[in-house]
Amino acid sequence: MIDSMLRFARGIQETPERIDLYRTIRGSTIDFDLLRDRKIGMDVGSCEHDLFIMGNDLDLRRALLNLYKNAQEAIQEKGEANGSIFIGIDRKEIAHNGAAVPQSFAQITVQDNGKGMTRETKERLFTPFFTTKTGQGQDGNGVGMMNVKAAVERCGGFIELESEFGVGTKFIVNLPLAN
Ligand SMILES: Nc1ncnc2c1ncn2[C@@H]1O[C@H](COP(=O)(O)OP(=O)(O)OP(=O)(O)O)[C@@H](O)[C@H]1O
Ligand SMILES: [Mg+2]
Repeated sequence: MIDSMLRFARGIQETPERIDLYRTIRGSTIDFDLLRDRKIGMDVGSCEHDLFIMGNDLDLRRALLNLYKNAQEAIQEKGEANGSIFIGIDRKEIAHNGAAVPQSFAQITVQDNGKGMTRETKERLFTPFFTTKTGQGQDGNGVGMMNVKAAVERCGGFIELESEFGVGTKFIVNLPLAN
């Protein structure tokens, strides 16, 4: 985390490579196994297409790990007994930012049935050092989502979210496909 922050602050970037998104996602779930709460279910969907994007495997894996960690913490904070995290993978044609011609994107969704977010949290989510995890042994730094957004943007992508307080959250990561 510190490492990625420093890299971010210094503006150092690895050269983007053509990466297989399935591999990266598999890598991210293996990383997550180390900190995963076994009471929480985790499922990964699939998609019929090959999905190659331009980016950095480690950078993206770390971003996904931050999303899973937040999902897990939201489930734990809610005290949801049937906690589950679902990772969806899809391919979408999207006309982003009013583009005249839609472009092909890989779409990764990370959905949880955790505590969800208030409107205020949604508005401040990507602000550096914004955290609701203070007190009672919690120690949020408020840097996770800022790093996720930066990593997604380094791949030329964008991130969206749907969240309902008390119900759950879905992050949608859109990454342009490589030719
Ligand atoms: N899946 C989620 N469900 C509910 N709230 C979330 C979720 N993801 C993020 N949040 C909210 O957004 C805030 C910011 O998230 P972020 O990951 O940037 O920081 P953090 O998790 O508090 O700390 P850390 O830097 O250790 O990740 C969280 O404190 C939490 O309130
Ligand atoms: Mg976090």
